[in-house]
Amino acid sequence: MTMPPSFRMTLRARIYFVLIGVALVACTEQSRVTAPRDGLVAPPQDHVVGLPADVPARGRYIFRHWTFGDEQFWTDTLRLNEVVETAVSPATALAVGLKVDADRLPPGFLASADLTSPATTVELLRRGAVVGIEAQVTAGNHIKRLGITCALCHSTVNNSVTAGVGKRLDGLPNRDLNVGAIVALSPALPAAAKAVFNSWGPGKYDAEFNRDGINSPVVLPPALGLRGVALETYTGEGPVSYWNAYVAVTQMHGHGSFSDPVLDINIQQTPDLVTPVLPALRDYQLNLKTPPPPPGSFDPAAAERGKVVFETTGRCASCHIPSLAFTDVNRGILHAPSETGVDPVRASRLKNHMYRTTPLRALWQHPPYFHDGSATTLRDVVEHYDGFFGLHLSSQQKSDLVEYLKSGPPRRETEDRDHRDGEDRDHEN
Ligand code: HEC
Ligand code: HEC
Repeated sequence: MTMPPSFRMTLRARIYFVLIGVALVACTEQSRVTAPRDGLVAPPQDHVVGLPADVPARGRYIFRHWTFGDEQFWTDTLRLNEVVETAVSPATALAVGLKVDADRLPPGFLASADLTSPATTVELLRRGAVVGIEAQVTAGNHIKRLGITCALCHSTVNNSVTAGVGKRLDGLPNRDLNVGAIVALSPALPAAAKAVFNSWGPGKYDAEFNRDGINSPVVLPPALGLRGVALETYTGEGPVSYWNAYVAVTQMHGHGSFSDPVLDINIQQTPDLVTPVLPALRDYQLNLKTPPPPPGSFDPAAAERGKVVFETTGRCASCHIPSLAFTDVNRGILHAPSETGVDPVRASRLKNHMYRTTPLRALWQHPPYFHDGSATTLRDVVEHYDGFFGLHLSSQQKSDLVEYLKSGPPRRETEDRDHRDGEDRDHEN
């Protein structure tokens, strides 16, 4: 496997990451890390399993608010609570792409708040208003514990109050979120590691970096519209719960168990705050429906013509099979990078060494495209295929195809619930 130098990590950083891994596993074995004690941060298991049999509602709570006990990493190891309390104003938080849940704020809160003061951020956290971050704030306004949830990367807001502030939209990726810059705020990381994290930029994350030390992040994908899709992630590593468990234990650093002998991972932590909630979490995700495009965002007549190009001259439908959720992974097919002319590094780091045909969901919402974001616009996607497959599409056909992609493209998902369905009723305080 050859990699350009930019994909390599310095030896020092590699050693460091191996050490972090070892340290975490060591903590686990001594079982000094126990379940979080704070009810707000991660309620006791029975709070979740004891709810009525409305599985999607339980799943929604877990998706939005459950940290899996990952405070052991974000607080105890990275000490981000200290940085946030002293140095992260709401203005800074919004600048690194964090979103604010307007439903958690009293009317007029933002108008009178000092958006340049970290104290305001602490208040937002106390109110549970920062999407994807759960914190325990003391009476003296100190952040005692802080952890992250699935919603951090896979939710955004509708900007109804102002940019970055509005109603939650579960399952849509937060492509403004600069995860790397947030992690790099940690006082506990060496400069070499911070340099890697700071190289990612908004909307990207590398969920294999702390395992193999290679730096090739992917764009955050939607976590919706996956009902009827056989395998998840860009490389089709497994079904929904495989990824959920992988990310919760190895990336969020939740207090749970995950093992994959092929990837040489075996993490066992007791109590396991991950495995028992996977079924409800899975059901919630599978119930998240792809939202329609904003009204007026595409030309319906052109989209109709583009649909024909998609299914005939463009050859798109041979892999993005419309009746199979737009992906031939449902026929058990994955594609070598050379088949569609995309970067091979990512695939080489995982088990299948191939890419899954991406099920096309809410394309209008999340440029750039392809796993590495190498196509800035949908026009770039079309130009890529036109050149790579030698399609010789006319300029009109290309723009019609783009309009069709902008239209969703629509999929029959009548069985799915709306992704914005229901209020956040299980997180009242
Ligand atoms: C730090 C950001 C981050 C967090 C937190 C995170 N994910 Fe992801 N998620 C990603 C990335 C990046 C990928 C793509 C991984 C890949 O393809 O290699 C992904 C992939 C997925 C997919 C597959 C989407 C598809 O198109 O196949 C689902 C579903 C998903 N995540 C759900 C979750 C859930 C549920 C949680 C909480 C347990 C979670 N994620 C936590 C970043 C994140
Ligand atoms: C040989 C199979 C194949 C054909 C033909 C094909 N695709 Fe793809 N498509 C893929 C694969 C595999 C990916 C994932 C590539 C990646 O992430 O790097 C993908 C990704 C995409 C994406 C990115 C989605 C996202 O959310 O990032 C779009 C858009 C897309 N294809 C549209 C098209 C269009 C339009 C055509 C026809 C011009 C087409 N595809 C033809 C296999 C195919």
